[in-house]
Amino acid sequence: YYDPLTVLSLMYGDGPAARDNISVSDSEEKRDSIGVKRLSDARDEYTQIKPYAGMPKEVLVLYSSKARYRVPREILFWLTVCCTLALVAVTIAVIALSPKCLSWWQASPVYQIYPRSFKDSDGDGVGDLKGIKEKLDHFEYLNIKSIWISPFYRSPMKDFGYDVEDFRDIDPLFGTMKDFEELLATMHSKGLRLIMDFIPNHTSDRHRWFNLSRTRDPHYEDYYVWTDCKPDGPKPNNWVSIFGNSSWTYDEVRGQCYLHQFLKEQPDLNFRNPDVINEMIDIIHFWLDKGVDGFRMDAVKHMLEAPHMRDEPQVDPNKPPELVTTEWDLHSDYTTSQVGLHDILREFRAQMDIYSQEPGRYRFMVIESYDYEEVYKTMMYYGTKLEKEGDFPFNFYLLDLPQNTSGAWAKHLVHLWMGNMPKGKWPNWVVGNHDRTRISSSAGQLYVRAINMLLLTLPGTATTYYGEEIGMENINVTANPQRSPLQWNANMNAGFNDKTNLTWLPLHPDYETVNVEAQMKDDGSVLAQYRFLNTLRQSELPLNRGWFCYVHTDANVFSYIRELDGLKRAFLIVVNFGKESVVTDLSSVRELPDELKVLMSTNKVNDGKVFPKSRIQTEVGEGLVIQYSTNTRFNPNHPEECYISEKACYLETIGILYKCQ
Ligand code: NOJ
Repeated sequence: YYDPLTVLSLMYGDGPAARDNISVSDSEEKRDSIGVKRLSDARDEYTQIKPYAGMPKEVLVLYSSKARYRVPREILFWLTVCCTLALVAVTIAVIALSPKCLSWWQASPVYQIYPRSFKDSDGDGVGDLKGIKEKLDHFEYLNIKSIWISPFYRSPMKDFGYDVEDFRDIDPLFGTMKDFEELLATMHSKGLRLIMDFIPNHTSDRHRWFNLSRTRDPHYEDYYVWTDCKPDGPKPNNWVSIFGNSSWTYDEVRGQCYLHQFLKEQPDLNFRNPDVINEMIDIIHFWLDKGVDGFRMDAVKHMLEAPHMRDEPQVDPNKPPELVTTEWDLHSDYTTSQVGLHDILREFRAQMDIYSQEPGRYRFMVIESYDYEEVYKTMMYYGTKLEKEGDFPFNFYLLDLPQNTSGAWAKHLVHLWMGNMPKGKWPNWVVGNHDRTRISSSAGQLYVRAINMLLLTLPGTATTYYGEEIGMENINVTANPQRSPLQWNANMNAGFNDKTNLTWLPLHPDYETVNVEAQMKDDGSVLAQYRFLNTLRQSELPLNRGWFCYVHTDANVFSYIRELDGLKRAFLIVVNFGKESVVTDLSSVRELPDELKVLMSTNKVNDGKVFPKSRIQTEVGEGLVIQYSTNTRFNPNHPEECYISEKACYLETIGILYKCQ
């Protein structure tokens, strides 16, 4: 804070000498008549000078200390402080009150690419990584962001890539590491995420570790599960492979039997050896360092076996032991889901979490485990509140829909998951993959659209096996009927390979009509409906994160509501999985308006139709999405019929979501 007079003296005075004069008292001033004169002159000028642009600091200071400038400045200062504090408080409140945003693996379906069959870029008849890169626009069209690519590691292909010879290399059939890196970079530039298969349970028998293990290299000796047996003698125990027959094979080099829960060319790794765990963690790092967004963890329940190696109990104790040859003959008590398995998976998860700290780079982990009726075993892969594991284990129950296609069965299968999933977890749905008959073949074409509607309107992440978006069917061959080339168009090889006449499996003969190009032109096609539903789902809060409530089930129809507290717009889904056309009466559901307008029907002619809620008509295999407006939510009145992963409410006045109880 400068005394104005001091400032003036600095301006008009003679440097330090003048400054000294100014700082003395009045009586001293009088002693210097020249100085006194100068000061009075300056005072006069001071009252005359106006602030001007480019004024020196001293003049500025002079004026700024005057009350008329200082007071507004101080008011402004305190206003700024208050506003900043208020903004910080509002920001903290908004963060605290906002529900978590959906992560990428929740917001989009996961699309499974079987790389052999997606697109062949080099004309050898087998799909490849460059082919996938050429076709990324397909995902932009479908509004799909998460792509899982089945194995493309170097492999002798005894189990089509699930027998890995080198976890750090690409099989030449699919391309090179450079092709992979380019694919990943292109995917990321388009906002797509890449999920890889990770296969911890076994390697190929051509893997370097197995060769070192069978020759008893001291470091690798215990990398696999070995036990004594004779070349032609009895097997060490009654354990059977998933592919049938004993899971033990004698190895002449080592003179012992090794365990393989799948093919004999897929020896099981020994996860009781910490070195094996560390090797696998290094491989996880290798791919995460490359930028991979997630892993689908293959066959994890088989990773540990009981060290005592006792015979497993037979399902039918009276069956002669020599007829015990399939996994269905035994209770797999000693070869699956052993104590310690979840600790290993959590360790894997922890690695992914380290990489997930990078903003916007959450690394996703999905578990593959078929536990059939032991659903509680599957649910354990979700982990606990304190110990995270998979983001979700694959839900394969809908694969059984064709066993008894009906409304009641659909509800039963859906409820197997919803009724057993730990609170707050995120559901998911699979209706096809490379191991199972295509749902369009097992359930029949009639239900394909309805099944896609179910998949995309249930809560949670949908998984779509390539070709399901156009309703592709199995081909008529004994092995791999569900892995035929994707039908892109009606041209040579359905556009899968446009260079030579080779395709590793025959095409389905229906490709001339059932193909992507033709369906893109038809707004009533399976593809167009898939795209519509997926886009609707991603743009509508009730569908992507709202309540899911059962409304009605009978032999034909399965019906549910998707709604969000605070939002007037809600959706009623009515799907006829039965064998007859029916009229469904929902007049007892008082939360529904009396008239219901169809937003979308799988039977296009019914789009826009209006039904009284007492008479909702559906044909066999028809699904309806009905959008309605309401002030009365269904879930508060029927809590036992409703599920939500993370509760959120909508504040319609300002259009935001907030956490609510
Ligand atoms: C599950 C895969 O989906 C299947 O194709 C494979 O044969 C086994 N795991 C073994 O890796």
